[in-house]
Amino acid sequence: MKEKITVIGAGHVGATTARRIAEKGLADVVLIDIIEGIPAGKCLDLNESAPIEGFNCKISGFSGNYSEAKDSDIVIITAGQARKPGMSRDDLLANNMKIMRTVCKKVAAVAPDSILIIVSNPLDAMCHVALETTCFPKNRVIGMAGILDSARFRAFIAMELNVSVENTYAFVLGGHGDNMVPFPRYSTVAGIPISEWLSDEKINAIVERTKGGGAEIVDLLKVSAYYAPSSAAVEMAEAILKDKKLILPCTTYLDGEYGFHDVFLGVPVKLGISGVEEIIEIKLTEDEQIDLKKSATSVLKLVEDMQRLKK
Ligand code: NAI
Ligand code: 2OP
Repeated sequence: MKEKITVIGAGHVGATTARRIAEKGLADVVLIDIIEGIPAGKCLDLNESAPIEGFNCKISGFSGNYSEAKDSDIVIITAGQARKPGMSRDDLLANNMKIMRTVCKKVAAVAPDSILIIVSNPLDAMCHVALETTCFPKNRVIGMAGILDSARFRAFIAMELNVSVENTYAFVLGGHGDNMVPFPRYSTVAGIPISEWLSDEKINAIVERTKGGGAEIVDLLKVSAYYAPSSAAVEMAEAILKDKKLILPCTTYLDGEYGFHDVFLGVPVKLGISGVEEIIEIKLTEDEQIDLKKSATSVLKLVEDMQRLKK
């Protein structure tokens, strides 16, 4: 039997994610949204591209029919409001926490053994909602952010040095918000630290551009980014389905790791068939630890805000 990935939310990120999964031949795809017609229409269009693109996965779209998600191996949740120019990810909290709760209840009922990849923003807070609502083990609730933020960092390094992106490696950890933590010390070009390639001033400029990477796209597009976000979500799904044991920066529940408790934060993890199979603890400098703590504090503030909103 072919693997099955359900994507909830057939908007920009969801539909592009479905397309990437199909074009890679990774799994059959079920695309679900609340809006009538959109998921079915997008899937029909994708199916009609199959003879040209040469993929054989089944892609089917449904409005509100979660029974079709039954026994999915992976569920990627992109449902919810996206930010508009001038909005922060945190402005989405009140609406998206309700949507995330509704979606997760339905997913847990039909696909209780699935691994969740959360995409909706504010990402780290939405992971808390997903874990709490589904009661899934923590290794099966994973947030997508670090791969995207690191890919932005890598793209900017490659642009600056006019080298292949394939030569670049970078880590962005922490929450997926204004306090995310790019790690120049662990970022390399052809295995050589970027400090050997770029001045501090250039590195700082790239760090700042990375932190504002989402906003830069929203300002240009007037909608949120979706090509790179969908690539990142599918890289995670592929690592899991193929049991790659790939080490990637992902948002995971910390229970003592890095000195943090009861908080979702982006850190390097090993992704395999069980989801997060290991949390990799890298040595941090004092400054890096302070930055990560600041990021964790921002996430915990959103978690507190959600408690207030629930009352
Ligand atoms: P979009 O507006 O294009 O699509 C969202 C879709 O969710 C819409 O089609 C909407 O009908 C659907 N939806 C709303 N409520 C639903 C429900 N209860 N059940 C099923 N579907 C529902 O937005 P886009 O650009 O696809 O972004 C989706 C989310 O992903 C946003 O919250 C955005 O901020 C977030 N995002 C996160 C990223 C990350 O790095 N973690 C990167 C990019 C986007
Ligand atoms: C991004 O970083 C908005 O989280 C989304 O593009």
